[in-house]
Amino acid sequence: MLYEPLLRPLLFSLDPERAHEEVAGLMSWLAPIPGAAAALSALTGRSPRGLGKTVFGISFSNPVGLAAGFDKDGALAPILPALGFGFIEIGSVTLEPQPGNPRPRLFRVPESRALVNRMGFNSDGARLVARRLASQPKSSVPLGINLGLNKNTEPSRAPSAYARTFRILSDHGDYFVINVSSPNTPGLRDLQKVRDLSAILEAVQAANPGHKPILVKISPDLADEDLAALVETTERLAQGLVVSNTTVSREGVEEKWRDEAGGLSGRPLKKRATELVKRVRAMTKLPVIGGGGIESAEDARERLNSGADLVQIYTSLVYEGPSVVKKILRGLTGRR
Ligand SMILES: Cc1cc2nc3c(=O)[nH]c(=O)nc-3n(C[C@H](O)[C@H](O)[C@H](O)COP(=O)(O)O)c2cc1C
Repeated sequence: MLYEPLLRPLLFSLDPERAHEEVAGLMSWLAPIPGAAAALSALTGRSPRGLGKTVFGISFSNPVGLAAGFDKDGALAPILPALGFGFIEIGSVTLEPQPGNPRPRLFRVPESRALVNRMGFNSDGARLVARRLASQPKSSVPLGINLGLNKNTEPSRAPSAYARTFRILSDHGDYFVINVSSPNTPGLRDLQKVRDLSAILEAVQAANPGHKPILVKISPDLADEDLAALVETTERLAQGLVVSNTTVSREGVEEKWRDEAGGLSGRPLKKRATELVKRVRAMTKLPVIGGGGIESAEDARERLNSGADLVQIYTSLVYEGPSVVKKILRGLTGRR
């Protein structure tokens, strides 16, 4: 496709968040047009067969999904599968609408093929997202909904906030992710501690009579002893893990990024996230969605071989363009 020579320079000449808005705007404009998804699918290349698998009781046509944060409010869920994704994860969605952090809050680090973001859960809120998902065509691939927490929610109210958010959205998603690992909401990552996480998962499961799979998304910055306890809690009260969110580490990027608050994603996260999948896999048989710095079929295969059942991408979509998904899929089948 013409992404690298044409579209990327154009988008990279814009502020990163503005570029995202342009792409998202174009996709949501295309979504309702008959034949647009088929055209986008044809433009982004052939999608191989034979990569299907069933994980936490859901059948996936391939193991490569879209990570949370690209489509925070679910507006693109009908059109994103045209890029070849085997599943789409929308969100994070918070209970109440909130604007997120002041701009600028998204930065490109092109020399490291990375992004730094401190979006801070800009969200339309659960009710509007639920209405949107109910009124638009359903995603043709399994839909995950990632749940976040409003900035002004007291930690003691987190269990009921997550449970209420889940209840509002529960009919619309195939699996749900409890995000307790974004570095951009003060105190959020402390909820990875056993007592807090148990209370959150118990509250969400009490609101989950339909037994939708509930996954916990974890930080690559967790200490070893905290990881073991978190995995045990997840085994007891949930159905899987998303490994991992962005890192507050600045390993692999220039010095100047140390002072820019936010989570680092993309290539510098690859090694750390792969190691974390291996550590998690050594502790549990629970299903794992692996993400962080996956840019190629080799990266995806390595993550799957390290113990992930499925993988997901975000940052490589920005650098490689929309054809990257099917490129990864073709590489995974061994054909190009
Ligand atoms: C701009 C941006 C926004 C993100 N927003 C969220 C979010 O709302 N919730 C979440 O769980 N993860 C969010 N993430 C993290 C991604 O889902 C993913 O875990 C991380 O970027 C690592 O994958 P990657 O290296 O393929 O991008 C965001 C990432 C980026 C770059």
